[in-house]
Amino acid sequence: MASFHITVLPGDGIGPEVVAAGVQVLEAVGRRYGHQFALTYDDIGGIAIDKHGTALRPETIKACKQSDAVLLGAVGGPKWDDPQAKVRPEDGLLAIRKGLGLYANLRPVQVFPFLANSTSLKPETVRGVDLIVVRELTGGLYFGRPKRRWTTTRGRRAVDTMAYSEQEIARIVRVGFELARRRRKVLTSVDKANVLETSRLWRQVVMEIAPEYPDVQLWHVLVDNCSMQLVRNPKEFDVIVTENTFGDILTDEASTLAGSMGMLASASLAGLPADGRALGLYEPIHGSAPRRAGQNLANPIATVMSLPMMLRYSLGLEKEAQAVEKAVLHTLDQGYRTYDIMSEGMKKVGTREMGEAIARNV
Ligand code: IPM
Ligand code: MG
Repeated sequence: MASFHITVLPGDGIGPEVVAAGVQVLEAVGRRYGHQFALTYDDIGGIAIDKHGTALRPETIKACKQSDAVLLGAVGGPKWDDPQAKVRPEDGLLAIRKGLGLYANLRPVQVFPFLANSTSLKPETVRGVDLIVVRELTGGLYFGRPKRRWTTTRGRRAVDTMAYSEQEIARIVRVGFELARRRRKVLTSVDKANVLETSRLWRQVVMEIAPEYPDVQLWHVLVDNCSMQLVRNPKEFDVIVTENTFGDILTDEASTLAGSMGMLASASLAGLPADGRALGLYEPIHGSAPRRAGQNLANPIATVMSLPMMLRYSLGLEKEAQAVEKAVLHTLDQGYRTYDIMSEGMKKVGTREMGEAIARNV
């Protein structure tokens, strides 16, 4: 029997509800396979601002560093949205990514066969889509300095800085190549090399690394073109690797392929572990959906689907990872649907019931 320590950060809005469903499924995995998951709960985001005056306390980062993995819900809400605010819930998210060195954000997009009809795109366009976006997570516009807003005699000004070093580019590009090698061996590197210096360096570094992966087919695609191809020809993509901001935008777009943001999970890692034992942060890609909070409405599948990645990349439990994936498929097959993926003839359930059904199927 193995024992693991998980830090749980439910956060704001629907975060606590979807995380509770995820925890139920994790506990079912523990019972079925004889593992012990010791959970420590802590605060991040708006709730942390209210309770502690900061979106993420240093002791929380320390606790995360001592865990095997971190499970996160979502942060943010209208209460903390004032553009004048000194602290924002999102600061907590950026601080945990940076604090734990989680530069590689993996966002898989799979279209479940029975949900091909719940997307706004043509079912034949999305059926069979299976791609993964590898987003650089601790550099670029999010962290570059200077970053500030100020007032001049001629009005207000603001600046953000997009900066990348060749080391930052190389390590994320390698994650892209390695993943492609384990999949269909096609890597699309997305940049804006026709305009941006950071993108020209990005492309140079990609071209320098490419010879190490002769078995992987490489494409360079400009980000504007990529955003079009993603909805036009999504099946063409296998692994997409890109910088922070482009990855943020493209993954919201890619999520529409799966029918609902409520289906997609993400893993943030400090590199691809060779042996499946590296600290990682696991979360749904959706936000805190404040208007749905506290109503037992939200789809917990995105959070539940972050568990297979946790089991695989941080806990080294491949068989258990597959068991969760199968349990989700089976539950959908049994007709369970939350409101966002509901269609005629299916069983409409809430967050809790969906979590319970998946846990039963583990
Ligand atoms: C995401 C989110 C975050 C980001 C926000 C909440 C700071 O949109 O994880 O995609 O921009 O990275
Ligand atoms: Mg985003």
